[in-house]
Amino acid sequence: MAEEGRHYFTADPDVASRPGTVGVRLDDVQLELRTDSGVFSHSRLDAGTKVLLENAPLPRNRGDILDLGCGYGPIALTFASRRKRLRVWAVDVNERALGLVRENAQTAGLGNVTACTPDEVPDDTVFGTIYSNPPIRIGKPEMHAMLLRWLPRLQPGGSAYLVVQKHLGSDSLAKWLNAQGLPTTRLLSQRSYRLLEVQKPSDLPQ
Ligand SMILES: C[S@@+](CC[C@H](N)C(=O)[O-])C[C@H]1O[C@@H](n2cnc3c(N)ncnc32)[C@H](O)[C@@H]1O
Repeated sequence: MAEEGRHYFTADPDVASRPGTVGVRLDDVQLELRTDSGVFSHSRLDAGTKVLLENAPLPRNRGDILDLGCGYGPIALTFASRRKRLRVWAVDVNERALGLVRENAQTAGLGNVTACTPDEVPDDTVFGTIYSNPPIRIGKPEMHAMLLRWLPRLQPGGSAYLVVQKHLGSDSLAKWLNAQGLPTTRLLSQRSYRLLEVQKPSDLPQ
């Protein structure tokens, strides 16, 4: 596995710091983000992340946004720019990534971003929309546990958007989510990526 792949999902990456920047260039949002080694895709905007940023619908409600597995923050900061009145939770296990998100949010003047570890999100927080380029490489049991921890915290009528590479199991993930009672459809197939939409029916209790 490449250097960046070995360390990015640990709490405290043991690779030396090698700061850099990545540009997020979209029709509506332009960001120059600080990155570092030991953080997912630190030298370029990940192709799957770009598919999500260009195609995932904007939030359809006013609930908080969650970027699950935020890395250095391209998804969190893009949606924080698009919806400045909504709180965006940027959650990751990687402390170096969280430090970068805080720095990037401050530089971009985005006071609506909270970057923290999963355990630091208050238990009663629910989300109107979840966006994620999920950490498939942590392994299926861990990733399933992560999704079952957060997707049920969508508020009624809320939606989650997950970008997953076809060869990393997007179709079986969609099947598994449906089997868990989380209605999931394929919104888009672009390049080798699938964008999945998970919906929380509006008539179900939390
Ligand atoms: C595929 S990367 C996406 C990073 C970033 N969102 C991007 O698009 O560049 C997935 C991220 O999930 C994080 N992660 C791994 N396990 C996690 C967990 N249990 N809870 C939250 N985030 C986790 C990794 O550290 C990594 O930063």
